[in-house]
Amino acid sequence: MFFFDKHELRIPGPVPVPPKVLLASASPMINHRGAEFREKLPLVLDRLKPIFATENAIIALTGSGSAAMEAAVANLVNPGDPVLVLVGGSFGQRWLDICTSYGAKVLELQYPWGKGVDPLDVQAILKTHPEIEVVFATHNESSTAVLNDIEGIGEVVNQFDALFVVDAVSSLGGSPLETDNWGVDVVCTASQKCLLTPPGLAFVSISQRARSRMKKVTSPRFYLDLLRYEEMLMQGETPYTPNIANFFALEEALNLIEAEGLENIYARHYLMRDMIRVGMQALELPLLVEEPWASPTVTSVRPDFSDVVGFCRRLEQKYGVEVAGGQGLFAGKIFRVGHMGYATPLDMVTTLAAIEASLGQYGKACAAAEKTWDDWIKENQGASGC
Ligand SMILES: Cc1ncc(COP(=O)(O)O)c(C=O)c1O
Repeated sequence: MFFFDKHELRIPGPVPVPPKVLLASASPMINHRGAEFREKLPLVLDRLKPIFATENAIIALTGSGSAAMEAAVANLVNPGDPVLVLVGGSFGQRWLDICTSYGAKVLELQYPWGKGVDPLDVQAILKTHPEIEVVFATHNESSTAVLNDIEGIGEVVNQFDALFVVDAVSSLGGSPLETDNWGVDVVCTASQKCLLTPPGLAFVSISQRARSRMKKVTSPRFYLDLLRYEEMLMQGETPYTPNIANFFALEEALNLIEAEGLENIYARHYLMRDMIRVGMQALELPLLVEEPWASPTVTSVRPDFSDVVGFCRRLEQKYGVEVAGGQGLFAGKIFRVGHMGYATPLDMVTTLAAIEASLGQYGKACAAAEKTWDDWIKENQGASGC
């Protein structure tokens, strides 16, 4: 491959990191118990609050998104506690696996992979199981490219006594998640997706209700003891050495996010989604997910040719465009195009150009995507489009 480092990373995270963010991550190291970091930590966490749309405290963990998920379970669930887990793909399954590891009494609501959760089903199950204490959901199920209706599910969960915990690892910063307005008690996310930063930091927001429960929960925890992180945050510190380089990077990423503005960012993600979807339709490549659930950060395609893995490999080897394959049930059956974070409409055209060229169908997908982009520019007069 020519210039093997000039790669088009189109997977659902980690995402390409903007040069300014990468440069910041190479800043000289500082003392994590010194004045500079003590000032930086609370400021950076405060700047995340508008993205979480919350007044709740936000905790930073050094780890990946799964660390945030495990922290939520370890701090909220005792062995034997009845919990409800909503599953429609590998990341819903991850909630199930973590809750089971912590000895919860798990009730699962399974959905066919590729379909979203129906809030009315959640309501029905909570009515028949009022003992449920915590509900775990996935905002954006990256394994299928389904965006769940967290507002609708939150409305239902809030009619009962249960706490509501959401994995927003592949959505936060790419799709609105109104933590406070939608009644979400705990939100888990990570640095390497829509937050434009390398992997290595995870974040958890904690409501007052969740904090009260954490004080009573007795499950063993040490590194993931969130109340200890909250306590230390009062002094501007973390209990253990944090990923300082990622904090430098995140500050720069937040500058970019604040300059673009959240509304513009969300609009860009929906535009990119629509460009990829019309492009695939123009190539007669079936989309896995129907409109109401189609994710703004990743799109799944289920081609009718058999060698999907080989197709992805050729795309990468010849064009340097790397898309993701399927996971679990969909391994070898689908491919997924990531369009989150540091991605533009032009990146979508490039990706579609590689896909249509590799199928020998020149121009079809790009023309459809270009029209979607032009229509969007007309509708959003004054938008630069790029
Ligand atoms: C929706 C979702 N949840 C959780 C995770 C797990 O995050 P990590 O791989 O950072 O542990 C991912 C990672 O892709 C994800 O997409």
